[in-house]
Amino acid sequence: MINAIIIICAYVIGSIPSGLWIGKIFYNTDIRDHGSGNLGGTNSFRVLGKKAGIVVTLLDILKGTAATLLPLLPFFADTTIHPLILGVIAVVGHMFPIFAGFRGGKAVATSGGVLLGYAWPLFLVLIIGFFISLKLTKMVSLSSMIVSVIAVIYSIIYMIVTGDYALLILVLLLAGFIFYRHRANIKRIKDGTEPKVKWI
Ligand code: G3P
Repeated sequence: MINAIIIICAYVIGSIPSGLWIGKIFYNTDIRDHGSGNLGGTNSFRVLGKKAGIVVTLLDILKGTAATLLPLLPFFADTTIHPLILGVIAVVGHMFPIFAGFRGGKAVATSGGVLLGYAWPLFLVLIIGFFISLKLTKMVSLSSMIVSVIAVIYSIIYMIVTGDYALLILVLLLAGFIFYRHRANIKRIKDGTEPKVKWI
């Protein structure tokens, strides 16, 4: 029973559509009708501005971290569900949110949050990698995919050094989600029409 409750909690946390709610409550705007139409931090930046973009990104990160840390709550002390599974479920919730007609984001920030909760050194490496990549490419989507590849390489090295393969399985799954959700971006990158950011 406790396992079913914790799984539902992870999905509900991941489902919180921060971009949609912040856009609607504070800006009277549905970000799905503007920009890339994506329910994520990047499109919130694009459509609602810097402040909203930062808040949505932080909230989306927090969703992944919170789901991963759920077993620390005394109520869930007896759960046998691995934190990484909860993180993956939160990312699924973020991509297919029950509160937003199952049309959610592209898995990047919430996946980052899962790594922050489970493997924070990797999260730090990815943040640095992300901004270096963004400086060079000016594309958030491409940088998100580049850091996914960095995460896979890091996890392979981690597995070789420690013998622990759980992180690699998680990262392969998250990277798969991220590439799959960026199909339209990949096409635009190939066509040379992917939007670039100017602020970096
Ligand atoms: O986090 C999603 C980002 O990588 C791309 O977002 O709105 O440019 O498709 P967007």
